[in-house]
Amino acid sequence: MAPHASQLKSATKTVHVRNLVRRFAAKTILDGVDLDIEEGQFVALLGRSGSGKSTFLKALAGLDHDVEGTGTLDTPENLSVVFQDARLLPWRTVIQNVTLGLPGAAGQEAGRKALAEVGLEGREAAWPNQLSGGEQQRVALARSLVRQPSLLLADEPFGALDALTRLKMHDLLRELCARHRPAVLLVTHDVDEAISLADRILVLDEGRLIEDLRVDLPAPRDHGDPRFASIRTQLLSRLGVETPGRRAA
Ligand SMILES: Nc1ncnc2c1ncn2[C@@H]1O[C@H](COP(=O)(O)OP(=O)(O)OP(=O)(O)O)[C@@H](O)[C@H]1O
Ligand SMILES: [Mg+2]
Repeated sequence: MAPHASQLKSATKTVHVRNLVRRFAAKTILDGVDLDIEEGQFVALLGRSGSGKSTFLKALAGLDHDVEGTGTLDTPENLSVVFQDARLLPWRTVIQNVTLGLPGAAGQEAGRKALAEVGLEGREAAWPNQLSGGEQQRVALARSLVRQPSLLLADEPFGALDALTRLKMHDLLRELCARHRPAVLLVTHDVDEAISLADRILVLDEGRLIEDLRVDLPAPRDHGDPRFASIRTQLLSRLGVETPGRRAA
């Protein structure tokens, strides 16, 4: 059985991982991953399809009880997870989805506030199927932030959205994170998304983190900035895409 996320003892580290190993049958997916994430730090995780990003995120979320593995894994108790699909309960209204498990009038108030923060004021009574994909993802963000998490784990949360909606969601996520300051681990395929949002970018390959890059550009980040382009080239090369300047899908 894998070790499961235990409550973090350190005051400044939100995530502490040492020598994390995860296997499916005879195949080792994570092969000794070490990672510390500081309070409020925004980390993006890149890696080829099948490299183990979701496996890592699920381990951090404590959602891999049936998986074999070893290692040290400390995460805060109040963490939230957002996936590519919003995973809303179709038989509950928007506000009910957001406040699930939050009792009383205080819960309702927090839910309304969170919905207003993601731009969905007035849509509390709507049903999930009455919302667009982007709006559903906003509800998922509101649901994760309403609990004021110390750690937000997001697995390609904008992967299913069109390009314009995705850019709007970047602005929203940047704004929400600046206000609430959770530590974030954002799994993405999109190199530009990672550079636009993250303080730090990791690349997972062959079961290990092969890149750990700080991004010190001022926000909002200009995609035309030569420093942006240089980080993009470096990351694409680490991902095995050798055409400089090419945008990762
Ligand atoms: N429950 C499982 N049982 C067996 N193998 C699994 C299971 N989940 C994932 N795998 C395998 O582990 C590897 C890593 O999968 P994972 O989903 O973590 O990759 P990923 O980096 O998130 O990929 P993608 O970018 O396509 O989402 C893949 O080879 C996958 O087939
Ligand atoms: Mg994945």
